[in-house]
Amino acid sequence: MKLSKRLQTIADMIPDGVRVIDVGCDHALLDIDLTLRGSNECIASDINENVLRKTREMIETYQLLDKIKMIKSDGLTEINLESDDFVVIAGMGTSTILKILEEKKPTQMIIQSNNDLEELRRKLSSRYGFSIIDEQVVLEKNIYYIIMKLKRKNVYYNDKECLFGPILITKKDSLTKNYFEYLLMRKKKIIDCLPINNKERKKIMIEISYLEDILKG
Ligand SMILES: C[S@@+](CC[C@H](N)C(=O)[O-])C[C@H]1O[C@@H](n2cnc3c(N)ncnc32)[C@H](O)[C@@H]1O
Repeated sequence: MKLSKRLQTIADMIPDGVRVIDVGCDHALLDIDLTLRGSNECIASDINENVLRKTREMIETYQLLDKIKMIKSDGLTEINLESDDFVVIAGMGTSTILKILEEKKPTQMIIQSNNDLEELRRKLSSRYGFSIIDEQVVLEKNIYYIIMKLKRKNVYYNDKECLFGPILITKKDSLTKNYFEYLLMRKKKIIDCLPINNKERKKIMIEISYLEDILKG
């Protein structure tokens, strides 16, 4: 089975040997891949009964029904979370992710949100007590995804770090650079369309100056 680039990057960021709780597993492709490789024990969970029915068929196709446990759960509510479990929450929006983590907080996890990365980083650090220990950019079908690995540790991130990622802003590889160039181009386009007295202008100008600094290295 070949995973998408996004899911493959997530799989590569998961340490061997940990029990993985895949929240919002959809077809459980990540869990199937990890289990086939024999690197992790997985629990595939989803809020949606119909999704889980299809997940079961998928897992059955790979003859892994005895290896991957499926649990219907809204977030982590039905999961008996153990201290060294590794949680994955990917492909959802920031508000859903934050709501899920309000309930229970794992010690280590991977998060991939589809929106509002600034709010996500700010609340995960300042409110929920997580520190970002790795961030990876993935470009797939012309969409940039940011994948974050976190652990429980109190840390303070400044505005620039919340906006663009405390680890990402230190990376020098061409994909990360392209991502920041793409953000800069988008912000410049927005500024060009905003009336001169628009309140958002100042905030975006600051973001542009952060991006220019990051790209200057
Ligand atoms: C777009 S899919 C992402 C699937 C997979 N995690 C990935 O990254 O490719 C989102 C999945 O999350 C599930 N979901 C949404 N809200 C949820 C919640 N509160 N708890 C558990 N699963 C949820 C949906 O049913 C859906 O299957």
